[in-house]
Amino acid sequence: MRKKIIAGNWKMNKNLEEGLALVSEASNMIKDEYNGNALVVFIPPFIHINAVSKMLEGYENQFSGAQNCSNHQSGAYTGEISASMIKSCGANYVIIGHSERRQYFNEHNQWLAQKIDACLKNNLLPIYCCGETLEERESEQHFQVIESQIKEGLFHLNVNDFLKITIAYEPVWAIGTGKTASTAQAQEVHAFIRTLIASHYSNEIANEITIQYGGSVKPENAAELFAAPDIDGALIGGAALQSRSFTDIVKAMTH
Ligand code: 13P
Repeated sequence: MRKKIIAGNWKMNKNLEEGLALVSEASNMIKDEYNGNALVVFIPPFIHINAVSKMLEGYENQFSGAQNCSNHQSGAYTGEISASMIKSCGANYVIIGHSERRQYFNEHNQWLAQKIDACLKNNLLPIYCCGETLEERESEQHFQVIESQIKEGLFHLNVNDFLKITIAYEPVWAIGTGKTASTAQAQEVHAFIRTLIASHYSNEIANEITIQYGGSVKPENAAELFAAPDIDGALIGGAALQSRSFTDIVKAMTH
């Protein structure tokens, strides 16, 4: 059985005090109200990671993560944060290739492949994002776009390293818009991603990889999305900023 993972990407929200209040509330609500086996990941801004990680010590199946990391190991890169720094602050996961990084910071697949390598070298588990823009979907290029994102970002990995990857399908047109992909649309792309993995690695490997959906996931639509056979969790933005809505999405993952 592949892992189910619910992750909350705070993006550039919450000061330290607000962030710690959110983690304190949500981690306890999840502990008290959720008895499933999904893993939960809190992904705050870098500067909160150390405090968030400390707060999560002793909470079973709850982890912290980072929203990005440098493709370099160390050195004269003012303002950058390396994978080893992230690891030393207690995080387990790192989002790589979020569409906002691709769009606003010009991150391209080759660069993202280097970031994936930097994470793996430092025992961090990457959550690799892929997804098409509205224009790409409307011109029916979405499968092609997702295929190059996955191949160029990930398929250089050997099997052992590839098994450490979580993939998040986040259609850009569904992020922060309130417009969720229908369960059928999301399932179709998730199944497509699994086929790509099967053809490059094997069916067994494809079946082991967690594929999250992201884009306006809310307590109201989570259960339906999670019931789809190839949707193994969610990467949540807006609804992860409140303990009640985040916990309710976690609770929608029953199996
Ligand atoms: P929203 O849930 O706010 O649409 O954001 C999704 C996202 O980008 C998570 O990484």
